[in-house]
Amino acid sequence: MISGAAKLAGVMGWPISHSKSPILHGYWLDHYHVDGAYIPMAVSPDSLGQAVDGLRALGFKGSNVTVPHKQAIMSYCDIIADDARMIGAVNTLVLDADGHITGSNTDHAGFIDNLRLSDPSWDPKSGTAVVLGAGGAARAVLYGLIRAGAPKIRVANRTLDRARALAEDFAPHVEVVAFSDTAEALADCALLVNTTSLGMTGQPPLDLRLDALPKSALVTDIVYAPLVTPLLAEAMKRGNRTVDGLGMLLHQAVPGFEAWFGVRPAVTQDLREIVLGTK
Ligand code: ATR
Repeated sequence: MISGAAKLAGVMGWPISHSKSPILHGYWLDHYHVDGAYIPMAVSPDSLGQAVDGLRALGFKGSNVTVPHKQAIMSYCDIIADDARMIGAVNTLVLDADGHITGSNTDHAGFIDNLRLSDPSWDPKSGTAVVLGAGGAARAVLYGLIRAGAPKIRVANRTLDRARALAEDFAPHVEVVAFSDTAEALADCALLVNTTSLGMTGQPPLDLRLDALPKSALVTDIVYAPLVTPLLAEAMKRGNRTVDGLGMLLHQAVPGFEAWFGVRPAVTQDLREIVLGTK
């Protein structure tokens, strides 16, 4: 139940019906008895400016922004946080009382918090990280790892130039590896991260030999459909610690919820099951 004073937020995307954000924010609103609402907003690329004016006109506290608006939204923000500038994408808007909009990116914190909370023994400073992929998700992962103190990060990507661009933007922490050399690049790796779409339901598998990967390495995949990707299954089989990608989605939502609704929500097993649809 909400009152006439309910705080409003939502998620803008095109399409939006697949988004899990309304389920997860709705769960927290209910759990913390917040007088607020979080709604899905189907916003076509042509309507983005009008939609932003609408948020202001309707007194929204803010919004999440998803595909395909994460870059285009930047031109409508009054302030762009450092994280969004470095990652090159905004996923969270916060409106102040005057309607000024700050755009930030919470994916990097979602990535790091997920690893820290899922595996308390993980130390980002402990060794080299290998990141597969050089898209938007990889940029968020790099930003998070560098902030957390990762000493060295190797990026392997099918399109070498994209990896090179990333290494330049995040210099001096990143070195580039040819995608065909990934298996050898795992030799002294403390953390292996897949940010490519390989292994996702309906996509080709990630064909990577893990023989050289130390047994002490942590392996994580930002793909969460399936929850246990072939990469994670293989890593588990050989005794590596693994963290699945669903937690990143849940943890990236925490800062937005806190900014809009004034409560810092917890990521729990109950929430995971609700979002997975198993409860
Ligand atoms: P996101 O924003 O989720 O990171 P993206 O920018 O489209 O999405 O990036 C997808 C990543 O998956 C890229 O690193 C892409 O490699 P390219 O830069 O070479 O395109 C990687 N990827 C997708 N399909 C792939 C495939 N069949 N083989 C290897 N890499 C693939």
